[in-house]
Amino acid sequence: MYTDTKLEEEIAAIDLMGPEPSDEHSRELYYIGKLRTLIAERSKEAGRQLTACTVTFGCQMNARDSEKLIGILVQSGFAPVETEEADFVIFNTCTVRDNADQRTFGRLGRISHLKKKNPYMKVAICGCMMQEKGNVDKVRKSYPFVDLIFGTHNIYRFAQYLWEVYSTDKKAAHIWEKTDQIVENLPVERKFSYKSGINIMFGCDNFCSYCIVPYVRGRERSRDPREILRETESLAQDGVREIMLLGQNVNSYGKGLENPITFAELLDEVCKVDGIRRVRFMTPHPKDLSYDLIRVIRDNPKAARHVHLPLQSGSDRILKRMNRHYTKEQFIELALKIREEIPDVSITTDIIVGFPGETAEDIEDTLDVIRRVGFDNAYTFIYSPRRGTPAARMEDQVPEDVVKEGFNKVLTAVQESARTRSAALAGRVMEGLVEEVNSQKEGYVTCRLSNNMIVHVPGDASLIGRFVPVLLEECRGFYYFGKIVEE
Ligand code: SAH
Ligand code: SF4
Ligand code: F3S
Repeated sequence: MYTDTKLEEEIAAIDLMGPEPSDEHSRELYYIGKLRTLIAERSKEAGRQLTACTVTFGCQMNARDSEKLIGILVQSGFAPVETEEADFVIFNTCTVRDNADQRTFGRLGRISHLKKKNPYMKVAICGCMMQEKGNVDKVRKSYPFVDLIFGTHNIYRFAQYLWEVYSTDKKAAHIWEKTDQIVENLPVERKFSYKSGINIMFGCDNFCSYCIVPYVRGRERSRDPREILRETESLAQDGVREIMLLGQNVNSYGKGLENPITFAELLDEVCKVDGIRRVRFMTPHPKDLSYDLIRVIRDNPKAARHVHLPLQSGSDRILKRMNRHYTKEQFIELALKIREEIPDVSITTDIIVGFPGETAEDIEDTLDVIRRVGFDNAYTFIYSPRRGTPAARMEDQVPEDVVKEGFNKVLTAVQESARTRSAALAGRVMEGLVEEVNSQKEGYVTCRLSNNMIVHVPGDASLIGRFVPVLLEECRGFYYFGKIVEE
């Protein structure tokens, strides 16, 4: 187990026999301290160290939340494992589209037999899906073996809830409607040694008419920049070389802080941290991506040559109904400005097909943007009505066959665009960060370039976390095969 001296000192200073401390941070440490004894006892009884596994769905923000969950589990005495055949399994859920819900219910259903076999096993479910009452009711009714349910707003109370279910052996559910708290400095167990996400803000106030996120993640809250920089520095000291600043709309970072600062200023500061070689961010909203931000990326070699700029639709009429606050031409102008200012930048996007009222003509507009911007990659989604959102109440929902046709056209166009953009890089030598051993091709490792492109090169696990010059040899659509060349 990774030992955090400061954390140990803080836990040692708390009277674990006394009443719970009133501030959130100490309270969590108090419960971690209490859990250590309890989980050690249970492990002794079981004749092995109890294990824990997180199953994560959804975006980078959920991935980061899961690192916090496993951090608390590890500090409480569980051994982390990657399999659902564990003593504690927690599902961290996403509800952005219906298929995310369905996949979670499918996985949840499949573990009930594991629970029957293992008397020590407990199951928890948390995250965005649990902010919807219908889903909580369904879990209670159809998956009664679940021991603990909580949502997004009170994730920082996890240690307390864990203590509750282990000390009482009863079921617990805690769903909050909202929070204004950001609790700092709780334990984290990173999935990767060399890269990490960093939350810079929580929630979203944009209310795009199709999107459930503002309802399940609550109002926008920015973290204090000093906390973000402190976390970046401590990650750098711990060997992290690449970080990703996370928020649903990073451009609105800093509003409402005591000393407001812009996202461009924050990015600039974060890039100055010694030891950090690359800084990414997700996601900027096209409506308020400032020229300052473009300039900070341009002038900062550490800022990744990649902007993920979600288009959603190329039709002005649909964009308006989506509540996106930009037009087709404004989007194109912005994308081309980014390309002009930042040589080698890659621009990727998200597109939704089948939004209510979308016609073949609207799809043509989307195709036009794809051709004119030339996206380096794109995620194309079929519109999924989310209960409670304005779009779900719109009357002109698009029939499935029309959606399919539009989807195929968009997919073909983005694939072609990605292929053309990628192929243009053949023969170049670019800096790659070796991320992992390639599970498909023996003797290969996978690198990520600053522009977010993936290159598979011969190599072994000893290279993981290293920056290496890679020659881009063989283009395979939106990724490459290549090799490491001499520095
Ligand atoms: N905050 C980010 C992304 C959030 S969700 C942004 O504003 O871009 C990630 C992507 O899921 C969105 O960009 C959108 O393309 C897609 N998405 C969100 N709601 C959806 C829905 N109801 N149906 C289909 N796709 C959706
Ligand atoms: Fe959803 Fe729009 Fe917020 Fe992104 S900006 S999370 S799409 S409401
Ligand atoms: Fe999904 Fe929640 Fe992220 S709904 S996309 S996990 S914010």
